Amino acid sequence: MDRNGYEAFVAGYPEYLASGNIEALRASEFGRLDEEGEVYLDYTGSGLYGVSQVQRHLHLLSRAVLGNPHSQSPTSRVATELAERARHHVLEYFHAPPDEYCAVFTGNASQALKLVAESYPFDAGGRLLLTFDNHNSVNGIREFARSRGAETTYVPVVPPDLRVDAVALAEQLARPPGSGHRLFAYPAQSNFSGVQHDLRWISEAQARGWDVLLDAAAFVPTNRLDLSRWKPEFVVLSFYKMFGYPTGVGALLARWPALSKLRRPWFAGGTISVASVGADRYHPAEGAAAFEDGTVNFTSLPAVDIGLDFLESAGVDNIHARVQALTGWLIGRLLGLRHSTGRPLVTLYGPASTEARGATITINMQDSLGNFIDHQVIEEQAGIRRLSIRSGCFCNPGAGELAMGISADEMRSCFLRSADRITYDEFRRCIDGKSTGAVRISLGVASTFADASAFMDFARSFLG
Ligand SMILES: Cc1ncc(COP(=O)(O)O)c(C=O)c1O
Repeated sequence: MDRNGYEAFVAGYPEYLASGNIEALRASEFGRLDEEGEVYLDYTGSGLYGVSQVQRHLHLLSRAVLGNPHSQSPTSRVATELAERARHHVLEYFHAPPDEYCAVFTGNASQALKLVAESYPFDAGGRLLLTFDNHNSVNGIREFARSRGAETTYVPVVPPDLRVDAVALAEQLARPPGSGHRLFAYPAQSNFSGVQHDLRWISEAQARGWDVLLDAAAFVPTNRLDLSRWKPEFVVLSFYKMFGYPTGVGALLARWPALSKLRRPWFAGGTISVASVGADRYHPAEGAAAFEDGTVNFTSLPAVDIGLDFLESAGVDNIHARVQALTGWLIGRLLGLRHSTGRPLVTLYGPASTEARGATITINMQDSLGNFIDHQVIEEQAGIRRLSIRSGCFCNPGAGELAMGISADEMRSCFLRSADRITYDEFRRCIDGKSTGAVRISLGVASTFADASAFMDFARSFLG
């Protein structure tokens, strides 16, 4: 690591050093990164777990005897108690009063979204409003909305910052209501551009009769979400994005009146209070249980409790301050890189300042003549240096299409070329001459200046 560069960085971003001892945390909890020579820059893909989380979980599992929580046996009661402790902790972490919010455990954020999608009372006269930069797992809600006759509308994001067109959003929210229910779904932070959308939209939309679904998956790993202040009807998230471990557990946080609006299309083991085959009837269970199909991931739920402890002790505000400092430094440095021809190396998709943006930086690189360098090649080259970055469109096609200037007509014509299915390679050939994706780097709990600096060294290797 360049010592002078570090001195200049901490002089410009004193909050980096003021936000806890990252070197000590890195050594005690994430030593494996440096032991293995890994530079991890894909925290929006997945968070990393601290080693003490796994040790605490192992300790618990090696002592406890856990039975299936759906019964009254002693071992079942222990599992139930641990699951309920985790549920309580989730609500407490987000300052969500239990009399206002319910926490439903799911497999991940996508499953939480599907629970809302399949159960929300969409009908003709109803509406679904989405922002262009939603993740595909939110975009997919439109298929349920359409199949029940509800109208789906997208509000665009505007390059180069990729923030939502505020006028278009205000117009959509203010449209005279139809006869049905209306759901507005948007990400607190875009997993493509890092843009943090305004949480005030929640109450503005609610005041006009909309229900709001906040996709917090990319926001909560490095930002505090206070549900005593912001009160969307639904919040979705995945715990591995927050603290790396366990995978396979997410949550739907729902306000009680909103939860009672949902009508599930089926029932399963655990979701009913009684069901009869002979009488062909069933009654749903109360609260969260009605939405947790089958057996919850009960051996992993204590690890959610432990993960939240870990995040609390690392301090999400500290993590936030550090990753913001590194983001500001990286963006400034990347945009300053110039080829000998004077052309810039990097195009940034998203805001150039750290104002209302998170630690996700999406770019493309161009050669000295201004031609795109294939993003897949960049990812491969990074891999050779043991840098973990992401390339493609990150399950966020809308932001990608607007950022790369690929029009709806161009997209439609590519879909029409092949009646059944279009592969990613066919799509790349179809959009010839334009980049079909980008490179994403993202920072998190264990990120240090050395990681950011390693990416800068790598980027400089493309200068001609
Ligand atoms: C903003 C956002 N929403 C939803 C998801 C889906 O999360 P999962 O794959 O854990 O279901 C992701 C995953 O990357 C995301 O970044």
